[in-house]
Amino acid sequence: MNPNVRPETMQRITTPELANAFIEEQLAALKAQIGDKKVLLALSGGVDSSVVAALLIKAVGRQLVCVHVNHGLLRKGEPEQVIEVFRNQMNANLIYVDAVDRFLDKLAGVAEPEQKRKIIGAEFIRVFEEEARKLDGIEFLAQGTIYPDILESGPVKAHHNVGGLPEDLKFELVEPIKLLFKDEVRVVGKALGLPDSMVYRQPFPGPGLGVRCVGAITRDRLAAVRESDAILREEFALAGLEGKVWQYFTVVPDFKSTGVKNGLRSYDWPVVIRAVNTRDAMTATIEDIPYPVLHKIVARITSEVPGVNRVLYDLTPKPTGTIEWE
Ligand code: XMP
Repeated sequence: MNPNVRPETMQRITTPELANAFIEEQLAALKAQIGDKKVLLALSGGVDSSVVAALLIKAVGRQLVCVHVNHGLLRKGEPEQVIEVFRNQMNANLIYVDAVDRFLDKLAGVAEPEQKRKIIGAEFIRVFEEEARKLDGIEFLAQGTIYPDILESGPVKAHHNVGGLPEDLKFELVEPIKLLFKDEVRVVGKALGLPDSMVYRQPFPGPGLGVRCVGAITRDRLAAVRESDAILREEFALAGLEGKVWQYFTVVPDFKSTGVKNGLRSYDWPVVIRAVNTRDAMTATIEDIPYPVLHKIVARITSEVPGVNRVLYDLTPKPTGTIEWE
């Protein structure tokens, strides 16, 4: 039996009962595989790595070492949530790495999107490698691989820019959710007690806000992306749009336009709102956002986010636009 092929008899995990049965089975398998050895996991806070972390914490407790790398391109509140949920609530052995300056220095002046992705991916591996070298006795590397990653279907996987660790750091892989589809991972995450904001969270690209701060990233424009994204997410939640829209975020282009603020001329950036629905990210449609919600978001972004004087709503489906702007 090929361990990377989902058996036809495997039942789709749709209920808490089925999730609990899966969890029990995996806990036994993980304990048998890992024994009293140590496992390393790059924990981004996304649903896949979070579910793997929660499973491993249950199976082997503090033999799991989680590394959370803050590359400076995460959304507002994300590193704090990872620390709160895993270190404070689940008592995980969590190493938090503040690599913000390192990433932003490497990215300074780089405008080409694929070049930005390469730098972020390569730097991530380097930071993770450095942390792995500081640790003794690690024998396993856990990964949040899911079945669509194995099938290599869809553009999301093609974008995954995680390279590999060097030869002398090749650990045995632990991939407890590799036969699950995304909806099943969420059911398992819920059964493991992870917060809804993690379990049902919208897709977020590996390079994060880095590809939403169009062109060469600057700290002030990156702050504008992060603040406007936080406002958008807050208002979408208040308006009950969270579960209705597949992906929604803001983009800050690298040009300015004139405006007036408090009776004075301004020359500031625009914020672009993107809110799309899709099945597989290959094509996407524009969600109808009620105008009152949009007006409120415009009012908040233009008054609360420094350096911004306009808000634009991107009505372009995919094709012809991609979902991201880079
Ligand atoms: P596009 O912009 O190609 O996006 O229409 C399709 C989906 O892929 C996500 N995306 C990425 N995910 N690394 C990722 O992990 C990336 O570099 C990347 N670029 C785009 C995007 O957010 C959307 O869900």
